[in-house]
Amino acid sequence: MMSNKFPEGFLWGGAVAAHQLEGGWNEGGKGISIADVMTAGSHGVKRKITDGIQDGNYYPNHTGIDFYSNYKEDVALFAQMGFKCFRTSIAWTRIFPKGDELEPNEEGLKFYDNLFDELLKYKIEPVITLSHFEMPYHLVKEYGGFRNRQCIDFFVRFAETVMKRYKDKVKYWMTFNEINNQADFEEDLFPFCNSGIIFNEDDNREEVVYQAVHHELVASAKVVKIGHEINPDFKIGCMMAMVPIYPYSCDPEDMMLCEEEMRKRWYYADVHCRGAYGNYAKKMWERNGLNIVIEPGDEQILKEGKVDYIGLSYYMSAAVKANLETKANEAFKNFVKNPFIKASDWGWQIDPVGLRYTLNILYDRYQLPLFIVENGFGAIDQISEDGMIYDDYRITYLRNHIEEMEKAINLDGVNVIGYTVWGCIDLISFGTGEMKKRYGMIYVDRDNEGNGTLARSKKLSFDWYKKVIESNGQQL
Ligand code: BG6
Repeated sequence: MMSNKFPEGFLWGGAVAAHQLEGGWNEGGKGISIADVMTAGSHGVKRKITDGIQDGNYYPNHTGIDFYSNYKEDVALFAQMGFKCFRTSIAWTRIFPKGDELEPNEEGLKFYDNLFDELLKYKIEPVITLSHFEMPYHLVKEYGGFRNRQCIDFFVRFAETVMKRYKDKVKYWMTFNEINNQADFEEDLFPFCNSGIIFNEDDNREEVVYQAVHHELVASAKVVKIGHEINPDFKIGCMMAMVPIYPYSCDPEDMMLCEEEMRKRWYYADVHCRGAYGNYAKKMWERNGLNIVIEPGDEQILKEGKVDYIGLSYYMSAAVKANLETKANEAFKNFVKNPFIKASDWGWQIDPVGLRYTLNILYDRYQLPLFIVENGFGAIDQISEDGMIYDDYRITYLRNHIEEMEKAINLDGVNVIGYTVWGCIDLISFGTGEMKKRYGMIYVDRDNEGNGTLARSKKLSFDWYKKVIESNGQQL
């Protein structure tokens, strides 16, 4: 038996996002979200963003895994695993169907009351993301998404409404999920999902995205401040996609390139955690000729809205090499395969040590508590003849990452407060819209085309994770 030590009260659990599992896309007064206009793709085939909902297309998020009707059964399974917390998001469109209304939709608010009560019944702490790739589509069509400053107020109204409503039920909040994904603005998917941006032909993509990001950072800071006024016990975090970048070699050019790539993460985290843009960010605007409008008072708002902790996702690491002759594509032009590590079926490079490294660099830079709110292994699961799914590959992935997290805590002194396995129940993949890219410890009978009974069953990893939690990480 291993003798890993995790702090008392460590928040073990699972994570999901509303649009990837709830379904019920037009039930209970819910409006159309950006996830509702995205079709399914696959590895190497991009999801399409359609102009509204169009006949003849399959939209996997419309039904998800029907958590909207099944949440009681699913929460009971999470409780069986012993979850201490459960991370999900509040679908903005259940509360403000179009986004610009003055009054919220009571039926939507009631749904989350019921869900949180169900969790609390089992002493499972809800951990809530306010914006997880699911803003109202109406805000995209009528306002241009977060490129429009008015979205700050719409988001703040939404956040204030739910924070007031759930002030005694929810303590842990996060503002914008993986806000830094959109640093890869050459890809349409990320700016659309992060900020509701659809580009015009003549847009300067970089300028549009960094302006939208500024609006989100201001919105986030306002929400942190308001949230603390609503309940001083709230812990409000940011949420960063942490893919650490390694230099391909000790060539100083590789090292400097690595530093620049890492700024695509620090740019956001610096503002969230330090309350101001780094000098390199301002230099970048200047160098690239970006006109980012910062209104009077914005800098003060950023300063007053620093987060309490850093939520992060960690799946993989990446490596960059300067002076490459052939470049993969614009967004990832300097990226190369790391010869020291293997990759998943979707090309995600598996690197548990990279998690320890990431926790260290984050903690050294900000000295804020860290909450790993996503880590997991997307794989194709096979049902054996006895009906069981022996997902030992998933157990191996999770075990190796938990071991490295333990080292970060006990050998390096990093303050990690929790760990939630991404997609603890099978759900719709964000990147590809597939069902077959499964992360769950609970299997859901549904395929890529939407066929299946939606029945739930336990995989091998279910009991394994239960023991991990039961032993507070001693038994891996
Ligand atoms: C993160 C997101 O990017 O990774 C999740 O916050 C997403 O929404 C997860 O599902 C895994 O990515 P994917 O593309 O495999 O679903």
